Amino acid sequence: MPASGCFGPELGALLPVHELGALVTKTVFATVRSGNPAHRITEAADGMLNSVGIPSPGIAEFRAQVLPQYLATSVPTIISIGGLTVAEYWAAADQLAGHGATAVEVNVSCPNLEHGGLAIGTDPTTVERVVSGVVARSDVPVFVKLTPNVTSIAEIARAAEHAGATAITVANTFPAMSVDVTHRSAVLGNGVGGLSGPAVKPIALRLVWQAAQAVDIPVIGCGGITTARDALEFLLAGATAIQVGTANFTRPYAMAQIVRGLGPLLAASGTMTVSDVIGSLRV
Ligand SMILES: Cc1cc2nc3c(=O)[nH]c(=O)nc-3n(C[C@H](O)[C@H](O)[C@H](O)COP(=O)(O)O)c2cc1C
Repeated sequence: MPASGCFGPELGALLPVHELGALVTKTVFATVRSGNPAHRITEAADGMLNSVGIPSPGIAEFRAQVLPQYLATSVPTIISIGGLTVAEYWAAADQLAGHGATAVEVNVSCPNLEHGGLAIGTDPTTVERVVSGVVARSDVPVFVKLTPNVTSIAEIARAAEHAGATAITVANTFPAMSVDVTHRSAVLGNGVGGLSGPAVKPIALRLVWQAAQAVDIPVIGCGGITTARDALEFLLAGATAIQVGTANFTRPYAMAQIVRGLGPLLAASGTMTVSDVIGSLRV
């Protein structure tokens, strides 16, 4: 499936969407937000930085204009929700219940305005509050997308599981910077952004492996996956599904190539099904 914020329904014409497992929307907030100042994206060695800042049309506009485009496709829709306070997450869940999503993905990498701007997902107690409230308000499974910016991913993964999450996605982008030497300025308007793409893959793999050992619920692997071989590495490390973000920007056909490439790759290694390799990594 595409990673949140890295796909729009308008790209559907460019690839066989029906071959994907699901579509994930960009994170939506209950309120209208404008996002961060330009520049919002820049390239990095083997990846990219973004400080999009989650501009949001608000749930009413999202339900009227954006969601129908996803629901019109032949694959399940997963709605990513965010918030700057615990109550904002709950409000988003309230307003989306009964509107046709197959699952909700709670993006806990948003800054918590009630606690000095640290990401909600860095504190297990806050994660548990946010997620249990969303689970109580949702009529569909709730996935939780973790921030990699923590000391113990296992601790946060367990908090999400304890709160009733159906699955966890590991992980969001990694805080990073880019400097323009000529102008002696930060390249991104926000100063700091999130690093993604192949540069982060080894770290995301490590996080997936640690999270998969910590919880019994499925882990969705995300971070730098560009090829079918990358996807296989994440499956071996314990992921049961895959999200692809940055690769879509350079190769809009990347997800289809990954889906189609997995079968031959598995067959070449003498394995017939994806479920045979999940978590079978020897360490
Ligand atoms: C331009 C851009 C926008 C993103 N927007 C969101 C978002 O709205 N919500 C979210 O949870 N993650 C967002 N992400 C993070 C991706 O979903 C993904 O977790 C991250 O990029 C790592 O995967 P990748 O290396 O395959 O890109 C965004 C990433 C990029 C590059």
